[in-house]
Amino acid sequence: MDNSIINVPAYVKNEKAISWIKEIVGLTKPDKVHWCDGSQAENDEMYKQLVKSGSFIKLNESKRPNSYLVRSDVSDVARVEDRTYICSVNKSDAGPTNNWVDPKEMKATLNKLFDGCMRGRTMYIIPFSMGPLGSHIAKIGIEITDSLYVVVNMRIMTRMVKAVWDVLGTGGEFVPCVHSVGAPLVQGQKDVPWPCNSQKYIVHYPEEHAIWSFGSGYGGNALLGKKCFALRIASKMAREEGWMAEHMLIMGLESPEGEKTYIGGAFPSACGKTNLAMLIPPDAFKGWKVTTVGDDIAWIKPGKDGRLYAINPENGYFGVAPGTSEKSNSNAMATITKNSIFTNVALTPDGDVWWEGMTDTPPAELIEWTGKPWTPDCGRKAANPNGRFTTPANQCPSIDPEWENPDGVPIKVFVFGGRRSTTMPLVRQSNNWQHGVYIAATLGSETTAAAAGKVGQVRRDPFAMLPFCGYHMGDYFAHWLEIGKRITHQPLIFAVNWFRTDKDGNFIWPGFGENMRVLKWIVDCANGKTKAMDSPLGRMPQYEDIDWNGLDFSKKQFEEVMSIDPEQWKIEIKLHEELFNTLQDKLPKEISALRESLLAKISSM
Ligand code: OXD
Ligand code: MN
Repeated sequence: MDNSIINVPAYVKNEKAISWIKEIVGLTKPDKVHWCDGSQAENDEMYKQLVKSGSFIKLNESKRPNSYLVRSDVSDVARVEDRTYICSVNKSDAGPTNNWVDPKEMKATLNKLFDGCMRGRTMYIIPFSMGPLGSHIAKIGIEITDSLYVVVNMRIMTRMVKAVWDVLGTGGEFVPCVHSVGAPLVQGQKDVPWPCNSQKYIVHYPEEHAIWSFGSGYGGNALLGKKCFALRIASKMAREEGWMAEHMLIMGLESPEGEKTYIGGAFPSACGKTNLAMLIPPDAFKGWKVTTVGDDIAWIKPGKDGRLYAINPENGYFGVAPGTSEKSNSNAMATITKNSIFTNVALTPDGDVWWEGMTDTPPAELIEWTGKPWTPDCGRKAANPNGRFTTPANQCPSIDPEWENPDGVPIKVFVFGGRRSTTMPLVRQSNNWQHGVYIAATLGSETTAAAAGKVGQVRRDPFAMLPFCGYHMGDYFAHWLEIGKRITHQPLIFAVNWFRTDKDGNFIWPGFGENMRVLKWIVDCANGKTKAMDSPLGRMPQYEDIDWNGLDFSKKQFEEVMSIDPEQWKIEIKLHEELFNTLQDKLPKEISALRESLLAKISSM
């Protein structure tokens, strides 16, 4: 192996990292090695290079300063769940909801694919911290990649700074993440704007806490700090170490009296987590403040005082662009005004970006996400439905002042919700922690055009973690039950559904900022300021318990959006049983018992 290209900087002192990097250089055979320091000068140089090579388009500096548009290959536009593997030593540890291959076999496959896969390219070494640098809840990763797109995105999404090496020191632990687009350049071959490979593998070795990703340059497949590390590997670490890695937003609600309540909220992909995390309360809620700690992932640890404390391990937002507008999320629109990367959205004639839903009337002409000219009557979408913005969290107007507190923020409430046109009421509180775990375990969401499956079909997505849990889902339920036993101040657990429709298919609930009314009732419950009534599904507000000031929403509409249909619930409980049957070998007994008691309550309605 030609070690001379490695050139280890003097500030890198971690022998384990150095020997691992040498091993990967030997396997992947890059032309050059670049140690990223995260500096502004380095970043400026990288953007220059990306524009020069034709990968990035610089947007109009006066409209969107320091921002860029990128178009991916049309075959590489989303996470690939069917190519994502949890390669635990024993198949039963991955569980039936994960793809599994024996790690020995997977390593043999990947060794072949990675052999020489960086030929003709530069290897970038990215040191990053998930969570504020040095926080006792934060963890360190090192991503090796041959994609400059990955580097500039990771600089926004994580704390990618030289100082990570100081935190790591000589013997510190890190999560090794190896990524390649799988497109070596042989003998002066010209590069393409978005290199990738038709074969894709997103692989996790949970026992080794290691990640290997091949063939895709997009999102969660390639920015390995996000779903791969912060959820799949971290959920495994969390179980081992007694904490929780969750697919949750974290938001703060502050009352006019200055009482602050932090909420962790889990919703499946495409349910508007980013919009909820950045909610702007209706005018009638004068004096209330909503603040954002995170929009996608929460790492939550029991504190010495018996409460749960959460950090957002990320440093930016990788949000879905289509549907984001001044109306749906003006905080997000303000966040992305500068220093942002836009992937697979449309380009306007004056060098700005546009996507479906950004404005009521589309521009008369655009260049669509594939690079073709577009007009409103052409019959195609201008932006890919999974087009994204990558933007720094600290640019968000609603960012919480405590968002970088290394000790995290105290969580008082968990909220779980899916997209359900029927069955699920607007809001209910679980009877207790175990019942909350049951509600979260049986979470389901109707698939949208942007997700896999038939549109409108309910996909079970326990805790919104189905694609993100790095071990057996039954063990994960048990871990939640166990955490509940270990803490003295259990957060209250609620379920919400913003998406119920009437018999004509229209949404009954107005959603967006009006969700504040439900959240206010929830935090009032948590702070002992209101009451809830028992029901077969848990505890529910009555019409008078919700603040309707400034909204015309009748008691009849409320009753409709809160209604419980025993026939629908019998079908629902059957579906719970189907899920539990698949998890049978590791399903906690408490969960099956709760299903029986729910069935009994519904049957006697
Ligand atoms: C996401 C997702 O991108 O959950 O956050 O798919
Ligand atoms: Mn997500």
